[in-house]
Amino acid sequence: ALPQLLQGRKVIVTAGGTVERLDPVRYITNDSSGKMGFAIARAARQMGADVRIIAGNTTAAPPEGVSVEKVGSAQDMYEAVMRHWEECSMLVMAAAVADYRPKEEAPTKLKKQGDTLQLELVKTVDILESLGQRKTKQFLVGFAAETDQLDRYAREKLERKNCDMLVANDVTMEGAGFGTDTNAVHIYDRNGLVEQLPVMSKDEVARRLLTAAAARMGGA
Ligand code: PMT
Repeated sequence: ALPQLLQGRKVIVTAGGTVERLDPVRYITNDSSGKMGFAIARAARQMGADVRIIAGNTTAAPPEGVSVEKVGSAQDMYEAVMRHWEECSMLVMAAAVADYRPKEEAPTKLKKQGDTLQLELVKTVDILESLGQRKTKQFLVGFAAETDQLDRYAREKLERKNCDMLVANDVTMEGAGFGTDTNAVHIYDRNGLVEQLPVMSKDEVARRLLTAAAARMGGA
């Protein structure tokens, strides 16, 4: 059994990729399987937390005994998180949220026309950033999926999105990032680098990350 570091805490974990629809049969998404978010939810429960998962598109199996709310787009995920935000003491944004969505969602299947097709995309809501602006007691944990300059972008995201902790993964590294059972992360808090972890199971990453978070949380 794990130490009950999150006893009595309400924790929300987002997992998987958002789905941004173009028409009834087509959409933009990404390679997130949900494994990282589900591992965090499982570990949080084992540490005594009351856990809720808000999941986009996933291929992995969610942990047993944790309630899962399924959502589609970034906007849907934002609304679902907002419904539970007030009472939560920690939010972990492990989901891969689309930064852009098709400007229009066609009500009927788009017809094939000319030789080229231009898609217009517009920005989605940045869930983490808007919660960073309105947080009171909540401990906010963000992720950063990077392909280069991990340290620089991670610190910049932690600041801009007003996170308490940030977990950065280099998604080009073997055994790290999307779809794998393992990950290799750097964990930052507001003072800088906390831990630099080698490749290990996502379950172990989750335990390390939540242990570091629990040690930094206030009484909320
Ligand atoms: O699901 P798996 O297959 O196990 O893969 C795990 C993972 C690679 C998806 C995960 O470890 C990870 O890195 N998740 C974050 C992916 C991401 O969207 O990273 P980002 O650097 O683009 O975004 C930074 C942070 O802002 C993230 O916490 C993200 O959830 C959040 N965000 C991003 C855009 C947006 N519109 N709203 C957000 O809240």
